[in-house]
Amino acid sequence: MAPLRVTATASTRSASPCGRLRSPRPAAYRLGPDFPTQEDWPLSGTTFDHDVVVVGGCGHVGLPLAIALASRGLDVAIQDIDARAVDLVLSGELPFMEDGAQEVLQQGLAAGRLTATTDPEVIGRSEVVVVVIGTPVDEHLNPDPHAVTKALRESLGSFRDGQLVVLRSTVYPGVTRTIERLFADAGLDLDVAFCPERIAEGRAMEELFTLPQIVSARTQDARDRAAKLFGALTPSVVELDPEEAELAKLFTNNWRYIKFAAANQFYVMANDHGLDYDRIRKALAHDYPRAADMPGAGFAAGPCLFKDTMQLAAFTDNSYVLGHSAMLVNEGLPLYLVTRMEQAHDLADLRVGILGMAFKGESDDIRSSLSYKLKRILEFRSREVFCTDPYVTVDDSLLPLEEVLERSDVLVIGAPHKTYADVVTDKPVVDVWNLLGNGTTV
Ligand SMILES: NC(=O)c1ccc[n+]([C@@H]2O[C@H](COP(=O)([O-])OP(=O)(O)OC[C@H]3O[C@@H](n4cnc5c(N)ncnc54)[C@H](O)[C@@H]3O)[C@@H](O)[C@H]2O)c1
Repeated sequence: MAPLRVTATASTRSASPCGRLRSPRPAAYRLGPDFPTQEDWPLSGTTFDHDVVVVGGCGHVGLPLAIALASRGLDVAIQDIDARAVDLVLSGELPFMEDGAQEVLQQGLAAGRLTATTDPEVIGRSEVVVVVIGTPVDEHLNPDPHAVTKALRESLGSFRDGQLVVLRSTVYPGVTRTIERLFADAGLDLDVAFCPERIAEGRAMEELFTLPQIVSARTQDARDRAAKLFGALTPSVVELDPEEAELAKLFTNNWRYIKFAAANQFYVMANDHGLDYDRIRKALAHDYPRAADMPGAGFAAGPCLFKDTMQLAAFTDNSYVLGHSAMLVNEGLPLYLVTRMEQAHDLADLRVGILGMAFKGESDDIRSSLSYKLKRILEFRSREVFCTDPYVTVDDSLLPLEEVLERSDVLVIGAPHKTYADVVTDKPVVDVWNLLGNGTTV
């Protein structure tokens, strides 16, 4: 087992990682560490056209990472099966919202440090292959431990000896070992590392440069190569063994999910007694650091926390009492709210407006959004449902905010977009987030 190593990776340099002169990094990122020293690249003795290719590089995690690495002077290729997203990226547009990323994307393209393609052949021309495709659970909440392996098997012929393959997706425990075997069985001599992504969507361009990077691999050489890659972004690298790192990522998301579930359970408890959870929470946390991390109530949704809790549940042979309980509390919140609305109003006769369909505030991402679960319940139990969201572009049924405000009898805040804090209405608003500041009781 490797000892726990926490490394400072910052170094100073003026030329590019591969020795070619490149334009200076954007001023916005000057405060970060400098990218690796010239002699660090290429990381192996072999010459490649690109320093890095990001497979799944048009996704929510892959694209910010590719942009960030290019902003640090690396020559980065994006490979993705989504041709529409590849075209958008090549035209300098983001396929989704990500604060601060568009300008840096355009700078990377203009500097010739960033390119994108659907052709897997680019994998063989890149020294580091970062793999960050989606790893969802299926409709029965089972993880697919073969998702990453299957994708890599399809492009196996493109890999070359001497490459560093960095698994960046959140994987089911044991997947790193499976990938190592896949390459070994194919007679390929390359390094495999698992380095989980820990950014929050929307904050990637800040967090990629500030969060410590967890770097894991079977050998110190492979860990060193991965540490050099991420040293381009951050001054702090933490080393683990692959199985430890796989669990570290799942524990992180599960911890967050369980904390949200505790808050949501407290919310229900207080609300059932006519008390305002948010008022209680703010009072107990006032100048009391031990309670400062108690979250507010709200929809704990999105593409990661829920499914990573289910991944860990499968890993513990479904005996994960705390994780399953957290799932029941968090996923049960929309139904609870509707039941409370029924107790307060003659809901079957009322039109309900949902403000915010993204899975969280200031996001356009509707993946696993609980606003849609709320919508489905209300479609059955209220007279009519209207939905609005200023950011979501993939749902034709959404209406403008003004229309929803006018046509609805009752409103529910589904995603706490800041703009809704300014909504003026005399209609009842269900606001678990206390965004409007009028309390959370329903
Ligand atoms: N979204 C987050 O905030 C977040 C944070 C940390 C970790 N993660 C993890 O990162 C991984 C990716 O998540 P995401 O949100 O970016 O997903 P995403 O769906 O936004 O992106 C995945 C990308 O991979 C592409 N893709 C799928 N199969 C491919 C293949 N065989 N070859 C090439 N490209 C392929 C898709 O077209 C898509 O663009 C998941 O494992 C997720 O759990 C996500």
